[in-house]
Amino acid sequence: MTTPSGEAAITVEGLHKHFGKVHALCGIDLEVRRGEFFGLLGPNGAGKSTLINVLAGLTRANAGRALICGHDVVGAYRQARRALGVVPQEIVFDPFFTVREVLAIQAGYFGLKGDDNKRWREELLTTLALADKGDANMRSLSGGMKRRVLIAQALVHRPPVVILDEPTAGVDVELRASLWTFVRRLHAEGHTIVLTTHYLEEAEALCDRIAIMKDGQITALDTKEALLGRALRKTLCVTTLDPVATLPPALLAKVRRRSENHLEFSLQKGTDSIPEVLEALRASGHVVVDLTTEQADLEDVFLELTQRRQ
Ligand SMILES: Nc1ncnc2c1ncn2[C@@H]1O[C@H](COP(=O)(O)OP(=O)(O)OP(=O)(O)O)[C@@H](O)[C@H]1O
Ligand SMILES: [Mg+2]
Repeated sequence: MTTPSGEAAITVEGLHKHFGKVHALCGIDLEVRRGEFFGLLGPNGAGKSTLINVLAGLTRANAGRALICGHDVVGAYRQARRALGVVPQEIVFDPFFTVREVLAIQAGYFGLKGDDNKRWREELLTTLALADKGDANMRSLSGGMKRRVLIAQALVHRPPVVILDEPTAGVDVELRASLWTFVRRLHAEGHTIVLTTHYLEEAEALCDRIAIMKDGQITALDTKEALLGRALRKTLCVTTLDPVATLPPALLAKVRRRSENHLEFSLQKGTDSIPEVLEALRASGHVVVDLTTEQADLEDVFLELTQRRQ
């Protein structure tokens, strides 16, 4: 690798992108460190793919700059592109080539014609369960298979930084699991991984840090643990000895769901306290026989951050 060490894998400064009247990126600042497993989340239209396209040199930003391993994606396009492998969200392919040909063409694009790269391409085919499809025409592959070819294609030149834009969309459960094993291996081998996904449990399981985008801006950027800690609500479920007919208004306001002798409270973090709720129940004559609390998961945090009206 020709890239200097110690620099960020991805640096983005003041990035703006307009598509006519649509302001798709509204001043994005972001740094992804080398070796990170980074999640980029956000609702449809948030600007995730636009940001990725700028990084890949497929779209020109209107203002700001982006660097891959210290190389400007415009000024040092070739070096930046060499340091980056992108698995695009959209499946675009040439229907007339076979899988092996597609990978060989990609290798040629980076000037990698030797046996060493050929072996690596075969390894990729095997790892991505495509070995028996190597000589099949691209148009004869299923959607999930085509997506795997895109992944192999992104890795042909062994880039240190790998960006996967919704790689598991349309991929079956078994393959999704093997894909994650593969991506984890890449990460363990030192690759920087950036992932966008709408499966929040995937991001929660895999990513170290997560950025949440909305309307072309980054609305949150933190470690997974810190983001989970930011959830504003937690749930307290209580079972009482007898059915609950009446509750004091202050408690009733916190009840999200109720049936016979089961109450589910939605509590505001920092303001509501579980002991106070239990004490108020006791004072109003209810005997608590069981209780559980539920911590928020990434989905709760995501919804809070992306649905809140500004
Ligand atoms: N080539 C384009 N021409 C015009 N508008 C575009 C173009 N590409 C993206 N946009 C607009 O830019 C905004 C951001 O789109 P983008 O594809 O980056 O969102 P996203 O976060 O990747 O969404 P998704 O989760 O649906 O993939 C949207 O309003 C979209 O309509
Ligand atoms: Mg997208």
